[in-house]
Amino acid sequence: MSSISLRQIKKSFASLTILQSVDMEIETGEFIVILGPSGCGKSTLLNVIAGLDDCDAGKIVIDGKDVSGLEPSQRGLAMVFQSYALFPAMTVRRNLSFGMEIAGTPKQTIAEKVAWVAKLLQIEALLDRKPSQLSGGQRQRVAIGRALVRSSSICLFDEPLSNLDAKLRAETRVELKQLHETLRSTMIYVTHDQIEAMTMADRVAVMHKGKVEQFAHPQLVYEKPASLFVAGFVGSPAMNFLEGRLDGNGNFVTGQIAIDVSLYEFSEPPQDSEVVLGVRCEDIAVVEGTAPNSVPANLAFTELLGADALGWFDSFGQRLSARLSIQTARTVGKNVALSFNISKASIFSKESGLRL
Ligand SMILES: Nc1ncnc2c1ncn2[C@@H]1O[C@H](COP(=O)(O)OP(=O)(O)O)[C@@H](O)[C@H]1O
Ligand SMILES: [Mg+2]
Repeated sequence: MSSISLRQIKKSFASLTILQSVDMEIETGEFIVILGPSGCGKSTLLNVIAGLDDCDAGKIVIDGKDVSGLEPSQRGLAMVFQSYALFPAMTVRRNLSFGMEIAGTPKQTIAEKVAWVAKLLQIEALLDRKPSQLSGGQRQRVAIGRALVRSSSICLFDEPLSNLDAKLRAETRVELKQLHETLRSTMIYVTHDQIEAMTMADRVAVMHKGKVEQFAHPQLVYEKPASLFVAGFVGSPAMNFLEGRLDGNGNFVTGQIAIDVSLYEFSEPPQDSEVVLGVRCEDIAVVEGTAPNSVPANLAFTELLGADALGWFDSFGQRLSARLSIQTARTVGKNVALSFNISKASIFSKESGLRL
């Protein structure tokens, strides 16, 4: 068992509020990704969970036990940092075993654990090397291995892949996910990379300015973002936004254009009339002539992506992206109409930024 409950965690540095009031219930064996831009408080939150930093208010409860006052070593967590933090003068084997030696683990157990983790991470051939004789990816594996031999059922990762090149990052991402499937330990993984969040997480916590704006399955975060911030941060290219108002008759009105949004599932009857309509590029289609529910647009340029393409259009001074088949990208004219799949759109209050 290794569930984690964060209750109203608050943290400031001097007069600067870093964590506003973070609540999270993490279940045993979940892979949780904390996603957000640089500076939003991700590392601070992880350090507070690990006990490397004290929080000003709130509680950290692990398996029903309040650990807020405990030292990092008493919390039963392992942590992997972006910087790897390996001991440069020690071999890989020693880097893996050192923590266990300090803890007084029997020699035989240490040897077994090192052998197990070396096989798991495929670093058996590297055990007698020093960190300086390893590539970035290999060092990262050793750092992960060092966390795993501590046999803690909770692992914390702070942007562990950000020093790796794109290809290695993609490979290690898959390996880490497989490792989680094998070990089923509870993992909390911090990143600013939405692809890592989408691919690895059982649930993603999207953080913005010291607050969790949404905590949900990655697909739900993508399809039904809880706020304008989440909508703009998750997904590439970024969601298209159109500012306008609701006319009370089921239409979204922007400039001279009225778009029927009666198919949209509002969570409750909207009080706000000033809104932002958000549509992902795959939910915009190029249509012939003047179809209902469409806006006229001019093609600015297309980007070929290999499997498909992105068309960038200008419509009433707004830039919109639409995903196109290669065939469409080749033949699309300059002046077109774009229609929106409203059942998959998002509508936000302009004032609060929250999903309606
Ligand atoms: N020890 C500290 N003293 C003062 N400010 C800090 C300290 N640690 C972090 N901060 C500030 O807290 C904010 C959040 O930092 P951090 O949690 O590292 O963000 P992230 O990991 O999301 O990039 C930043 O503005 C950072 O400058
Ligand atoms: Mg950080």
